[in-house]
Amino acid sequence: MVQNKQRKSKSSGKLGNPFKKLKFGKKRKQMAIPPAPPLSIPRGFTIVEKQSLYEPFAHAVIAQNPSTGEYKYILDELSLDTFEREVYNKILDILLAEIHSPKEEIKSARDFFDKEAKNIVDKYRITLGWLPDVSWSKILYHAERDLVGFGPIDALMRDPNIEDISCDGVGKPVYVWHRRYENLETNMFFKADDDVDNLIVKLVHMSGKHVSTAFPIVDAALPGKHRLAVCYRREITPFGTTFTIRKFREDPYSIIDLINVGTLSEEVAAYFWTCLENRASIMVLGGTGAGKTTALNAFACLIKPGSKILTIEETAELNLSHENWVSLISRQSYGLGENHTGEVALFDLVKASMRHRPDYLVVGEIRGSEAYVLFQALATGHGGMCTMHAESVDTAVKRLTQKPMDISPAYIPLMNLIAVVHRVHLTKAGETKAYRRLTSIDEIVDFEDYRNVFKWEPTKDNFNSSIETSVILPAISKHSELSEEELTEEIRRRKNVLSWMRKHNIRSYKDVAAIIAEYYSRPKEFYKTKVEKVGVGS
Ligand SMILES: Nc1ncnc2c1ncn2[C@@H]1O[C@H](COP(=O)(O)OP(=O)(O)OP(=O)(O)O)[C@@H](O)[C@H]1O
Ligand SMILES: [Mg+2]
Repeated sequence: MVQNKQRKSKSSGKLGNPFKKLKFGKKRKQMAIPPAPPLSIPRGFTIVEKQSLYEPFAHAVIAQNPSTGEYKYILDELSLDTFEREVYNKILDILLAEIHSPKEEIKSARDFFDKEAKNIVDKYRITLGWLPDVSWSKILYHAERDLVGFGPIDALMRDPNIEDISCDGVGKPVYVWHRRYENLETNMFFKADDDVDNLIVKLVHMSGKHVSTAFPIVDAALPGKHRLAVCYRREITPFGTTFTIRKFREDPYSIIDLINVGTLSEEVAAYFWTCLENRASIMVLGGTGAGKTTALNAFACLIKPGSKILTIEETAELNLSHENWVSLISRQSYGLGENHTGEVALFDLVKASMRHRPDYLVVGEIRGSEAYVLFQALATGHGGMCTMHAESVDTAVKRLTQKPMDISPAYIPLMNLIAVVHRVHLTKAGETKAYRRLTSIDEIVDFEDYRNVFKWEPTKDNFNSSIETSVILPAISKHSELSEEELTEEIRRRKNVLSWMRKHNIRSYKDVAAIIAEYYSRPKEFYKTKVEKVGVGS
């Protein structure tokens, strides 16, 4: 019964507690929730944390082996017994046959399914054999999970602490990247090729794409904009289908969030804000999962509202609040081998985007010839931003000037700023965790001539400024009515605006964008009446 109590604890699922919602006929006796089967914890491990993912069906358990310090992620999900599984198989066929596509536009496929499925179950429950309400709830949970959700990984997708989910092949444990414990082995694995292959076919179809042995490599955006990368079957992956999902944040990190988690300082953000207003071009460097796209998105939100922004990506990850924003996504080829029929590559999109007169061109990640076109765009006076997989300015410039990017060294200074983001380990309040930090910000004066303006100091976890060496600020001053001193003063005021937002807990990207828009439209008045009044602007 202790377990029953635990399972009735606060619901975190979007659909609430379905046990409460379901009423299957007056004659049925309301059953108590049966105790869940004991959770199988690996030998030598003890539970250190338990979190509800979807009450009462799924919980995330973190277990640790005290002698080795190793952590594991255990998905504790209510499963179906043999009889429930039989009914589930029958009801699945019925649901597939009887649920028709909605006639009007719906907000959520899950809500629509939930309502329709309950009506259909009500209609058939007597003919399918008697089952307690609790079993029906479980059956409906599994049906929703498998038909409109993400199948067996649906519960993992609900865990806000998980950044990435990856499967390395059949029979191998699924791994997750957890915000607190980093890479964790889970208790979940796909027993047979068909299990993972069927899931992948379904997920890829949900994304409106195609996967087959002929086209085994797919990058797709799942509903909810989660990024899915697939290598299908054993064509190119001898261990069987592999996939990685980068979970998308509905509520992206704003510049204020990034300051709050210490990724950059208020001064660094104010500097970027001022540079961006003056169409400086910015490149964010870093390793896999370092936080490049996240930083790029937060910087792009500082661009003046009303500016025409074109974003170009392979899978849609950027999320801006600007009204005048066009998102372009590349398309893979339908042809085989050397035949590139139907392909719309990043290169084509960057080229095409120039005809749309963008103020800012944001390329999610540059890897190939699209970099060349981006630099051409910079040369013609467009603002530009991008990310690139590189650990330092030197390695980035080497890659930029070699094939396939092939950018002439004379063009390199068209990229004004390079920010490097790193995943670092820091111990705070006795706990060592991974954090993201902008470890250096350099201005490009010329090919192989860089000026460092901010450097992260690991021992103190702060940002040392040498902004007085900036070459961009004097260049901005030359083309504006502001003297260099006035520009420095403007950066100070913007730093105070950011500080004011933090003080007032204004953090969501939309709220931050609204304040930035207000500051752009009446900077003096805004500063005087809001920021100075509460005393941040000292
Ligand atoms: N500053 C940050 N603080 C905390 N979490 C962050 C930060 N930046 C990014 N993340 C999280 O880290 C994960 C990876 O971020 P992101 O997609 O930006 O990385 P990336 O460098 O672009 O990765 P990739 O190389 O795969 O494109 C995401 O789940 C994101 O929410
Ligand atoms: Mg990225």
